[in-house]
Amino acid sequence: MSEKTFRNFEREKGAQTPEIFVETTVAALKEQLGNDKVVLGLSGGVDSTVTAMLLHQAIGSNLHCIFVDHGLLRKNEFEQVLDSYRHIGLNVHGVRAGEEFLKELSGISDPEQKRKIIGRMFIEIFDQEAQRITEVKWLAQGTIYPDVIESISDKGPSVAVKSHHNVGGLPERMNLKVVEPLRMLYKDEVRLVGKALGMPPAFLERHPFPGPGLGIRVLGEITPEKVAILQEADAIFINELKQAGLYDKVWQAAAILLPVKSVGVVDDERTYEYSVVLRAVNSVDAMTAEWVRLPYEFLDKVSNEIINKVKGVNRVAYDISSKPPATIEWE
Ligand code: XMP
Repeated sequence: MSEKTFRNFEREKGAQTPEIFVETTVAALKEQLGNDKVVLGLSGGVDSTVTAMLLHQAIGSNLHCIFVDHGLLRKNEFEQVLDSYRHIGLNVHGVRAGEEFLKELSGISDPEQKRKIIGRMFIEIFDQEAQRITEVKWLAQGTIYPDVIESISDKGPSVAVKSHHNVGGLPERMNLKVVEPLRMLYKDEVRLVGKALGMPPAFLERHPFPGPGLGIRVLGEITPEKVAILQEADAIFINELKQAGLYDKVWQAAAILLPVKSVGVVDDERTYEYSVVLRAVNSVDAMTAEWVRLPYEFLDKVSNEIINKVKGVNRVAYDISSKPPATIEWE
């Protein structure tokens, strides 16, 4: 496999197309892996899915994918994504572990501790599931170039700011060799490769979603009730973005549930409920990001929908902070 990104390759040798990347990478994977079994964690995101599709072309049913529901996915995401994976033809084991994750997280409000617990639980459950598959030799990962850069940077910036649960830990624990076919590509190049592989547009255009999921968007202590409230509010925001034709114009959007309650009034009755913050940013590589100037009319509609339909929420705010100094996620 070429150790060069499209961009480097283009600069040095003329055009490299996604189709050529697919062809050479699949051939290299075939040679590297032979008849070995490979296990891969799917997250519903573009990187892990493109990794799976490349490996599927190279080694077919010797690729075993594991998709863990940590109970912190978007509303109905587990079922929908699992369906799409099966539709693509992937050999995927779905594991529902929401209750176990939420139990471990109960009473914990420190963001780093939450991330670490989710990371540890993920590794444990993934490992348990992988143990059921006999004679696995390789662990495939959807690592892309910015992940590589971040993890080798001597300043260690983002790893120190927030520990990313989905980089590292697993290979050592599982004693497997690592295969990372996308490690020299940028995000936009991964999307081009996905397109060349015939990946459905709904997958390709999906906003980035963090490994710890809604666990870092329910601020402070996570409870099943808070997760359910956030899932509803988030689903309304994302659906409205899609309906207004704004989803594809925004790099990433999210709803965040604040851990404070405030006073409101409905039908002359005083309410005391949670607040939801909406966040929409544009970015190229997630290292910097600018808040999106969503139209007031749109924000007004989403706010009304959320307050009217989501029980437990009486206030909606819009985050107008850019990165830096604010990060994209709130925890
Ligand atoms: P921040 O909040 O650091 O986020 O500005 C930058 C980008 O990274 C995503 N993010 C994560 N992705 N595991 C992931 O896979 C994580 O632990 C994680 N934390 C943040 C975030 O959604 C944004 O796209």
